[in-house]
Amino acid sequence: MDQVLIFEDPETEDFSWTEFDLKVEAAVGSDVVDGLTGAPKSLPPRYFYDDTGSLLFEQITDLPEYYPTRTEESILAAAAAEIVERTGTCEVIELGSGSARKTRVLIEAYWSVGRGDAPALRYLPVDVSGQILKDSSRELIDSFPGLQVWGLIGTYEQALANLPPRELDTRMVLFLGSTVGNLTPRETVAFLRRTASALKSGEYFLIGFDLQKDIPVLEAAYNDAQGVTAAFNLNMLTHLNWRYEGDFDVDRFAHHAFYNQTENQIEMHLVSETEQRATLGALDLTVPFVAKETIHTEISRKFTVGDMHGVFQGCGFEPMSNWTDPNSWFALALYRKR
Ligand code: SAH
Ligand code: AVI
Repeated sequence: MDQVLIFEDPETEDFSWTEFDLKVEAAVGSDVVDGLTGAPKSLPPRYFYDDTGSLLFEQITDLPEYYPTRTEESILAAAAAEIVERTGTCEVIELGSGSARKTRVLIEAYWSVGRGDAPALRYLPVDVSGQILKDSSRELIDSFPGLQVWGLIGTYEQALANLPPRELDTRMVLFLGSTVGNLTPRETVAFLRRTASALKSGEYFLIGFDLQKDIPVLEAAYNDAQGVTAAFNLNMLTHLNWRYEGDFDVDRFAHHAFYNQTENQIEMHLVSETEQRATLGALDLTVPFVAKETIHTEISRKFTVGDMHGVFQGCGFEPMSNWTDPNSWFALALYRKR
């Protein structure tokens, strides 16, 4: 059973949050132990996102090579009014909300159709990274006075199983940034089914996802010239060091990212530059590495719109609309639960 804490923000009555105990979950689930004792070694991508990792991801979104964020933002800006018209007033549950920078565009569109004491949305951001969720929620409340926000700090699974009671009739799940690409096909199906079971028939799922394109464009986005993506990848070890009393020597690992054409995915790895061992005291785990051995830290799958429709249809959703940019680099799609 998850441990759950519910807080009221003393600064504003508009913001509450629920915080789940990630350590309890990890001690039971042992995802880090499983990943580091597997062959080949791997780690779940959610461990990128401690406070530093969230800030590094924000820096990535501004890099010249990292096209997804600005492309998705431009699609959202063009589609927001139509999305609001389609869904009407609703509670927006944003999975992996991060800085919620692009969400502003959508909130603005809902806000502009609300009237006085009848706002057109309630916002429920979900993120494992607590500080960025609290900061972004406060910033949204400052920009939209009276906006009701209930944040859930924890994993998607923890949040979907513990949503606060409904205040508006309709809900929409929002999953931006192509974060779906960080899930394997099997994880995606489990995730969509779990999400579908948190929604009523006729409710909505709005997703942003990255499309297949020329390999040099893709590889540049994950090997930026300033080395921010490398720092983001390596920060996972720093995060594990503080979360689980570890001694990974981060300077003896290197970032490696490439496009796997067979699987249509970018893969990120951490390469051990030497033979070495690392210990995670809190998990009672010692991990040996041979020179050049890798830890697989992330997949970032690239899709077609047809693929995505097929997956959603198989999980109980029907397509309503989809939008793209002039280069067809990124897509946004709206689904309705059958
Ligand atoms: N939606 C934002 C942020 C994407 S980065 C955007 O489009 O730019 C992915 C976000 O998902 C991060 O903020 C990270 O902390 C969060 N995240 C990653 N794995 C998660 C998980 N398993 N459960 C909850 N949040 C997760
Ligand atoms: C959050 N996620 C969709 C990003 C991506 O592009 O897969 C994470 C990221 N990894 C490296 N750069 C950005």
